[in-house]
Amino acid sequence: MNDITSTALIELAIDLTSSLGTVERYDRLLDTVRKTIPCEAVALLALRGDQLKPLALQGLSKDTLGRRFLLSEHPRFAQICDSKTVVRFASDSELPDPYDGLLIDREGDLPVHACMGLPLYFADRLLGILTLDSLTANVFDQIPRWTLEMVAAIAAATLNTALMIEQLQQQASHNQQLMVDLTEQARCRDGGEIIGDSPVMLQLQQEIAIAASADVTVLVCGETGVGKELVVRNLHQKSALRSGPLVYVNCAALAENLIESELFGHVKGAFTGAEQARAGKFLLADNGTLFLDEIGELPLAAQSKLLRALQSGEIQPLGQDAVQHVKVRIIAATNRDLIQEVQDGRFRADLYHRLSVYPITVPSLRERGEDIALLVGYFLEQNRRKIGLEQLKIHTEALADLSRYDWPGNVRELEHIISRSALKARARSDSSQWVVIERQDCGLLSSDRAVSTAKGAPVAPPQAVAVDTSLREATDNFQHQLIVQALRDSNGNWAQAARVLKVDRANLARIAKRLSITQIKLLLD
Ligand SMILES: Nc1ncnc2c1ncn2[C@@H]1O[C@H](COP(=O)(O)OP(=O)(O)OP(=O)(O)O)[C@@H](O)[C@H]1O
Ligand SMILES: [Mg+2]
Repeated sequence: MNDITSTALIELAIDLTSSLGTVERYDRLLDTVRKTIPCEAVALLALRGDQLKPLALQGLSKDTLGRRFLLSEHPRFAQICDSKTVVRFASDSELPDPYDGLLIDREGDLPVHACMGLPLYFADRLLGILTLDSLTANVFDQIPRWTLEMVAAIAAATLNTALMIEQLQQQASHNQQLMVDLTEQARCRDGGEIIGDSPVMLQLQQEIAIAASADVTVLVCGETGVGKELVVRNLHQKSALRSGPLVYVNCAALAENLIESELFGHVKGAFTGAEQARAGKFLLADNGTLFLDEIGELPLAAQSKLLRALQSGEIQPLGQDAVQHVKVRIIAATNRDLIQEVQDGRFRADLYHRLSVYPITVPSLRERGEDIALLVGYFLEQNRRKIGLEQLKIHTEALADLSRYDWPGNVRELEHIISRSALKARARSDSSQWVVIERQDCGLLSSDRAVSTAKGAPVAPPQAVAVDTSLREATDNFQHQLIVQALRDSNGNWAQAARVLKVDRANLARIAKRLSITQIKLLLD
């Protein structure tokens, strides 16, 4: 009767490997212990420094769970903790019993009773104790020692597993919180704010507020460097899903054969090399936002799979039969002219319509010249902090130059020019603390742009520019040269030339028109 049964042992061992919740795991342990060893009360306590904290109990009043037992005040507990093996207290022991008045079946002091404690060691570390109390005196005396040691070993393993899981969960939730905090900090510190108070930017802010408050799919369009990603981050932060994740996917960087697994995940062994199951971006973004950047670069085959997921709200990881439901808000961004892409057969019309429920176009910097001074100030302050200067300013003439330029690379180009000019100005400056950016530090604006041709060879900057050439003229000449070369390399394909030059097709057509590059056939002759 008092010998532990092999069935009980197997039950305990199975519990250890199953994915039970912590509370359930403890309860099952105590149930099995009680089935094996009849007693009125059993309790599992964890050692936390110099005190014991009850984790689970049966037969004792619920408030016992809230008590903390200091070892120095409870000699019975201290004795169990000091022992390497089971401690059976004499029924008439004089030592005060910590459970006096706490037994459910009995009001008031405990009479003569049987009491024992098992220290729970795992890898030589004392994790806690298991206590058993019975109102029948001496009832524990006949239980073989090996049975008790077996119970202690299993209880210790159970406790260790539960503590480890708890620790991992705490760590995971800490990491999650840390990530949320860092994202928030990064957003505030490193340019979460959309700078600009021109009418078009005020309009944009309004659009963001409207789209954020509705749970609709948003398509953010605009030339390269206008701040599409910034807009998406703001949208997420202002939406009801702000406490959920914002998961970024760069569609242009996805390897074609891995797109499906990246987006929807896969189970272990779904394909050669899938050694571990992996959650796709859709699942990671559950209850949050999935940001599909550069959506225009997604190959047609992947477009149809994405469309299916958007239509059904369900995903199917590779190699898995069952579908999973996800609640994800989609925001896509592109610098391509998607309507043109649809017309050219490179983008599915149905996907385009699904994505552009709420389209937002971020205006180019040319359309908001009055914002240049604000942006310059913003980037000056960022650079001042980064370089560690007391003051970083820009000369009015240099600012005037910047205001006249037409910014094919938009805000990103401006940001880079200010960073570069700040470094040049500091190197030239007498004072290491007060630095002023002059015209010469900004250089010939467009000549610094790293533009590649369709074949990947960089276009050479203009060789010599006459000293009396105005900045505007020199810039125009250079742009003319780049565009003609890109068109030649693309065999007159405007969309391809626009991609090479990293500008919107419509924008390229506009600049070309201004520069009178219309007779492309003649140019190609
Ligand atoms: N209105 C703005 N206020 C402050 N910073 C801005 C603004 N717009 C853009 N930026 C900054 O300019 C840089 C480029 O912006 P972003 O990456 O959002 O452009 P993008 O439109 O996504 O470009 P691409 O099409 O090349 O991906 C970033 O460093 C961003 O913080
Ligand atoms: Mg971007």
